Order: sequence, then structure tokens, then C-alpha cells
Amino acid sequence: MEKVIVIDFGGQYNQLVARRVRECSVYCEIYSYKKPLSEIRAMEPKGIILTGGPNSCYEEGAPSCSAELFSLGIPVLGLCYGAQMMMHVLGGKVERASEREYGRTGTHFDVSSKLFAGVPENSVTWMSHNDYISRLAPGFMSVASTANCPVAAAENTEKGLYALQFHPEVLHTPNGKDILRNFVIDICGCSGDWEMTSFVETQIREIREKVGDGRVLLALSGGVDSSVAAALLSRAIGHQLTCVFVDHGLLRKNEGDEVEAVFGSEGTFELNFVRVNAADRYYGKLAGVTEPERKRKIIGEEFIRIFEEEAKKIGAVDFLAQGTIYPDVVESGLGGESAVIKSHHNVGGLPEHVDFKEIIEPLRDLFKDEVRKVGLTIGLPEKLVFRQPFPGPGLGIRIIGDVTAEKVHIVQDADAIYRAEILDTAREYEKEYGHSPAWMPDQYFAALSNMRSVGVMGDERTYDYAIVLRAVKTDDFMTADAAELPFDLLQRVMTRIIGEVRGVNRVLYDISTKPPATVEME
Ligand code: XMP
Repeated sequence: MEKVIVIDFGGQYNQLVARRVRECSVYCEIYSYKKPLSEIRAMEPKGIILTGGPNSCYEEGAPSCSAELFSLGIPVLGLCYGAQMMMHVLGGKVERASEREYGRTGTHFDVSSKLFAGVPENSVTWMSHNDYISRLAPGFMSVASTANCPVAAAENTEKGLYALQFHPEVLHTPNGKDILRNFVIDICGCSGDWEMTSFVETQIREIREKVGDGRVLLALSGGVDSSVAAALLSRAIGHQLTCVFVDHGLLRKNEGDEVEAVFGSEGTFELNFVRVNAADRYYGKLAGVTEPERKRKIIGEEFIRIFEEEAKKIGAVDFLAQGTIYPDVVESGLGGESAVIKSHHNVGGLPEHVDFKEIIEPLRDLFKDEVRKVGLTIGLPEKLVFRQPFPGPGLGIRIIGDVTAEKVHIVQDADAIYRAEILDTAREYEKEYGHSPAWMPDQYFAALSNMRSVGVMGDERTYDYAIVLRAVKTDDFMTADAAELPFDLLQRVMTRIIGEVRGVNRVLYDISTKPPATVEME
């Protein structure tokens, strides 16, 4: 398969580089700069992109690459640090600039360069560098400049080498996508005919080759990543795959049954589906536990125990499959290197007593939206593919204080009403205006406060729980604002929850930002 390889030097935008390449319908994988050149060459990439990074290339011990990389006959594009390193390694000079160049920067392009075809002569680029290329390596010429930076881009067309001081991968460089497309399609000669269906076909073939007649075990949570992994593996190896789905009784209303409807015997996927209904076991373990971290730990550990018990019943397997996706790999700080293990539920660790030889992670090069595309391509229902993020410990951390079956039912019912009302209102709006409303939250759910307060229902005094509604707008979940839900929507939700959910007499709307609050309650 035609592919471009991104070599990771630790820059903050590396995920974006790979993503932009895939947006050109060219398959792309990221590897650490430590990956041996022989392995890179063996993959026969059509092009190589070197990313930015936090170092100075002239410092001792700075991440580097061998000069040989530039004479493989494969076009190479260096970005920021990657550009400087290319110059440094090939005999140019990189020095500390007197002034850091940062932010949107007016840039003049030599539009006769193939790289800048279709780009206006004067445009803007996103710069973020302390060092600059003070002397070009032999054979290169400068093809872009800014007021402070004589070499904003350089090329050696004979060797197919291109260097950009700026970041074409970020949206702040308005013509960045065009520049990357010029490199990938026109310079590397990629045909740009890759699509998710080809990814799916290749993965299915590779999984079959790898697994042979072996057996694979997967912990299915019902979340997007593990569901897509399960679906992909099922298409590849059918009943050689066993999925263990632990229903911990802390899922959203009807969710356990929804997962079973997709993957169980009534669904369209061929696999062995094992559902473990462990609600009572969890409620037992959680009884009287109020401290949030302890709750999380219990939920995570119990999952591992149950998974191990099930694995024991199945016996030795050849592979343990995981729905690890690229951001998980990055979060773990290991870049494109050796297998990274995503601990289920992000707590509790990996099963120690499951007998398997190897890990299989078919989604580890993809981003979340790409994983969703794969899910749709292989026939998972939209409802599952576009699920909101849901924490591994589930409703366990949306019930403040101790967890009981009664509280779980209260929060499940309130949450189902809240989500349905938001979706209905948003759908109505979309029908009328053709786009989703500005207030549409990125995540929304009901939680159960541990507070009970006095109310009056009919002629009776009540002493019941308060439900907390949360709805946040966020780009990355690191920071978040409360969504400005329409007041009449909130009122409708309040009326329904108090009317339909026994044990609730108050509904509160959480307007806290993150930080200092978090998205979840615990
Ligand atoms: P917080 O509460 O940390 O949430 O502001 C940020 C995002 O992470 C989700 N979240 C979790 N996801 N396991 C997960 O898989 C967890 O333990 C967990 N805790 C929070 C949360 O739903 C939000 O999207």
C-alpha cells in the first residue's frame, strides 16, 4: 500500500501532520526518530516527513537522523525542527535567532516551487522557533522568507528534499493543507486513492495473516474504540475472536443490552460474545465506599479480576486485542515505538494472569474521528459510533458518595431523560436551521449529588436527592466551559425528571468551568 511515513521528533503538532496526510487520501504512519533506517526503508514509503520538536539540532544528544535518510531517493519534507535538522545534517548551519519568531507571520513564497503551486505569493504561516537556518546546505535554495527569517523554506529539487521553517499542519497556516498536498501528491507521486475502506481491507488481511488459526481475546467496554476493534477483528477472524463484556451495572440506561444487541448472537458480527452481568458483585464491593479514588480503584480492579476469571474459562489464547488509538499512544509518551498497553478503564492496570503471547492493536495509528469512520465503514450503528465519551468507571463517578443500586437507577433514569431532551431539541433546531445549535454540548450527562433536601410534592413533605445536570463545551477536555443550554430546555428536563424519577425533588445546573472544576463529579 502507498504510504507516507512521518518521523516523530517530539513536536506538539505531530498528530496533525499524519492527519493532514490522510486528509489527502494517502495512508500515513508515525514512527519515532529512533526507528532504524533499514526498517523505514523496508516499508517502501513514497515520502517521508520529519516533524518539529523541542530541541536545538546543534546541541549534543539532540534527536537526529543519519544523512543516509536524505539519499534514499525518497522525497523528504522537514518541518520546523525537521527542516533545521535536515540542513544541519547536510552541511548547512542552524543558529539561535536573536528574536524568537512565534505566531502568524507574513510570508513571501517563491511560487515557482512545486511545493507552493497554487499558493498566493504573499500569505501567512504559523511560526514557532528559536533557531533559524543561517546557511543553506549545499544544493539547496531558499523558496520562502519572512521579515526575520531569510529561509522560511528551502528545497533541493534534484534530491527531492524540502524544508519548511513554519508549520503547514496547523490551521493558522491558511495554505498549509495545499502545501502538504503538493508534497504528498505532486512531489511524492502518491495517487491519493486511499480511503477507509482500503484501511479496513488491509487491516483485515493483516489481522488474518498475523493471527493465522490462533485465538484472540478482547475486553469489550461498549465504547467506540473497543467496539470498532471488535468489529474489525470479527470481520477478519470471526469465531476465533472472543469478546468479554463486563456489565458492571454502572452503565447508562439500557446500554448493556444495546452492546449485546450489536455483538451478541442476534447481531451481525460473527464472534464469541461473553456478557458478564456483574452489577451485584460491583454494588457489593462498592457498598459504603465514598472516597472517589477508592471507588475508581475498586471498579478498575474488579474489572481485571472478572476479565481474568473469564479468560481462565476460555484457556490460553494467542493474542490479547486492544482498542488502543493514536492519542493513547501519544499520551503514554512512547510515540511510535514498542507496543503500548492501554489499561482498561484507565485504572487498575492490565490483567496479569491472562495467558497470551502477543498484543494486537489494529487501531493504534488512527485518530478518534478516523476510528469512527472505520466503525461506520464496517457497519457499526451510528448511535454506537458517535457515542459521547463515557468514563471507564461509569456512573460510579457520577454518583457522589457511596453507590447503591437505587442511586444507580435514579441517575440512569434522570440521565436518559436529559440526553433524550437535548437530542430532540437539537434535532428540531437542525431541521429548521440546517446546522446544530451553538449551545450543543460536547459532553452532557446527569449526575447524582449526595445532597438531600426538603421539598413538597402534592401535600407531602419530601426529603429527596438533587440531580446535577452537566453540559460542557470543550475542544480537548483539558479545559471546558458550561454550555449555555436554552432555559426552556432545562425547564423541560427539570419537570420531567422530578415528575418521572422517584427520589428526586431538585434539579441543579452545573455552570462551573474546568478548571477549577472537572467535567465529571469525582
Ligand atoms: P474530567 O472529569 O477529568 O474529564 O474533567 C475529562 C474527560 O475524561 C473523561 N473521564 C474519564 N474517561 N476513564 C475514562 O475513560 C476515567 O476514569 C475518566 N474520568 C473522566 C470524562 O468523561 C471527560 O470526557
